[in-house]
Formats: sequence, C-alpha cells, structure tokens
Amino acid sequence: MTKINDFAPAKINLTLHVLGQRPDGYHLLDSLVVFADFGDRIEVSPNSELALSVEGPFADGVPTGEENLVLKAARLLDPVRGASIHLYKELPSAAGIGGGSSDAAATLRALGEMWGMPLPGNAMTLGADVPMCLDPKAARISGAGEGRMPVEGLPAMPAVLVNPRVGVPTPAAFKGLATKNNAPMPDVIPDFVDVTAAADWLAGQRNDLSAPAREIAPVIDDVLAVLDDALLARMSGSGATCFGLYPDTETAQQAALRIAAKRPDWWVAPVTLNP
Ligand code: C5P
Repeated sequence: MTKINDFAPAKINLTLHVLGQRPDGYHLLDSLVVFADFGDRIEVSPNSELALSVEGPFADGVPTGEENLVLKAARLLDPVRGASIHLYKELPSAAGIGGGSSDAAATLRALGEMWGMPLPGNAMTLGADVPMCLDPKAARISGAGEGRMPVEGLPAMPAVLVNPRVGVPTPAAFKGLATKNNAPMPDVIPDFVDVTAAADWLAGQRNDLSAPAREIAPVIDDVLAVLDDALLARMSGSGATCFGLYPDTETAQQAALRIAAKRPDWWVAPVTLNP
C-alpha cells in the first residue's frame, strides 16, 4: 500500500511588520519567514473514508472534527475522496509558529502526490499562513500572507524556541495594535556571512504584534527574559512562542537545557532555523 510521508516544519517570523489593514479586516504584512528543522509529521495512505488520527506531545489540543485544518485541506483538494491521515503533533497550537497552517500545507503536498493533483491556488482560504508553508523555505511575505519572495542570503541559524504554554488568539493580537501603518523592512534584505551578522541586522527590525501580544499574555516578557543570552530574542507570529538565535548549535542546546531546567512547565526546543 502506498504511504506518503511529509514534514510540517515550524514557521518562524524573524520579523513581522504590520503596514496597514485591508477593507476586509486582514492586515498587510512585511515579514521575513524561515522554517525550522523541527515540526509535525503527516502520513497519508489510501482509504475509502476520510479519516484522521492524531498522536504526539501536542495531540490533545488538536480538534479532530471537520474544523480540523488537515481535514479542511483534504476537502479543498477533493470534496469527497477518502484517505487515511495520521498526524504526529510535535508543535504547540495557537503558538505563533504556524503549526496548523504547516500541517494543512503538508497535507496538500502529500495528498496531492497520492491523488496525482497539483497544489491548489486557493490555499489561502484555509488560513493566511498556509500559502507560505506550501514551499517551506526562507521568504519575504507580503500582502495578507499570499505574497512570497524567496530570500537566499540567510545563513542556517541555531536557535531555541520557547513557549510558555499560553495561547494567544491571533485576531486579538491584531486588534490590540496601537498603530496599523508602520514602516516596512528596508527594500533589500542583505546577504549575511553568519548568524551573528543576521541577528545584528534583525535587531533593527520588529515584530509589531509583540506589544499587543504581551498585553494579552504578560508571560511573554518572562520568555524573552530567559532568552537574554541570545544574539537576538523575539516573538514569532502573534505569539506566545519566542525564538532566541545563538552563535552555534552547542550554545543553543546548552541554553535550551538551562531554560528547561529553570521552567520545566514550558515547552523548549533547540532547533536550526533555515537549515
Ligand atoms: O487566516 P487565518 O485564519 O490564519 O487568520 C486568523 C486571524 O488573524 C484572521 O481572522 C484575522 O483576524 C487575523 N489576521 C489578520 N491579518 C493577516 C492574517 C491574519 O488580521 N494578514
């Protein structure tokens, strides 16, 4: 029996500048996005019915009914066809690292291959972050999430992801923005020799959702504080997950151990961004 596996990596917004708001309420973004070598896994196989099973450390937070993004992705490709889908959930939900969106994108890739269908052009209807997850490589994202320019000049970046197991609802974070017409990133994103050079440049950029998310979940300040030895510490997406960039893998792993020992209740993952 044909089984197809796919990987749904964590999506990290190294920057997230909010430039305005569309008449339909969606916000216009200028965001530098990378993917991690860590994420969920999807396995699809032929089946008469559409069926989803979920396991893994964050399986509990995943709805298994029709509102599940994996099932919605399957239905977007084909409204009636059956498949058995298994999701191994390593990523926390509502965490600003695109877990559900990356799962949906991996489902579209895997089922597209199994069913011999192209990737749909309307993946955006599943969620604003789904199109950027279809080809999980470094990119500058524009529009409400649908614009995508590949970014070639980023190094592999050792990092630690930290989530305090508090969810931030994305609409609430956008709603809390004090200003919606903020400055974009510079036109040109330079090439960087190493993670230190990248962190230096990134320090001059922003995540505009950080301020409203910290109002909603003040624990984000504690997360950023434990990452104070990083080259750069910043929130991803609408939070609450923050990333710290480190000069090398060993230093990142040591930082992850230190943070996990200090806050055993938090989720802590040493990763490589843009591997
Ligand atoms: O598209 P998705 O369901 O992932 O977005 C969740 C919510 O985040 C939207 O309903 C909207 O409130 C907000 N959002 C936004 N602008 C974007 C992306 C998301 O306002 N570009």
